[in-house]
Amino acid sequence: MTANLSDWTALERAARQAAKNAYVPYSHFAVGAAILTADGTLYSGCNVENASFGLTNCAERTAIFTARAQGGMEEIAAVCVYTPTPEPTTPCGACRQVLNEFGPAMRVRLICDGDAVIDTTLDTLLPGAFGPKNMAEHRARSE
Ligand code: THU
Repeated sequence: MTANLSDWTALERAARQAAKNAYVPYSHFAVGAAILTADGTLYSGCNVENASFGLTNCAERTAIFTARAQGGMEEIAAVCVYTPTPEPTTPCGACRQVLNEFGPAMRVRLICDGDAVIDTTLDTLLPGAFGPKNMAEHRARSE
């Protein structure tokens, strides 16, 4: 599916829909995420929990890994995350870091069961991020 940045509705719908596939027998907290790649393709993901709790995969990372696995996505322009909460909830630290790999300045929309929406950017949520640029600098220094 394709979309663009003036079409947040498509991302919101995809995030809410993805949450329906969440595997959440432990938390009962079904999250959905939709990402829009720089070339306009839309991917989504849900959280997938595990009896060994630490192996749980969040919705955001499921969406990113799916996108990459399905077609070599290079850059994320935007992400929308739905949580089953009365107010929007921000992504966990691990997901912020993984999102950063593919779009440090990406736009972020957070939606929930209530009417409130948070629009922000990844660099606001993860200031001073460690990312690909640091590794590129390291490689340049060691050449
Ligand atoms: N979770 C996500 O999928 N994304 C987030 O940003 C925060 C937390 C999931 C992980 C776990 O399955 C459940 O929500 C409760 O933490």
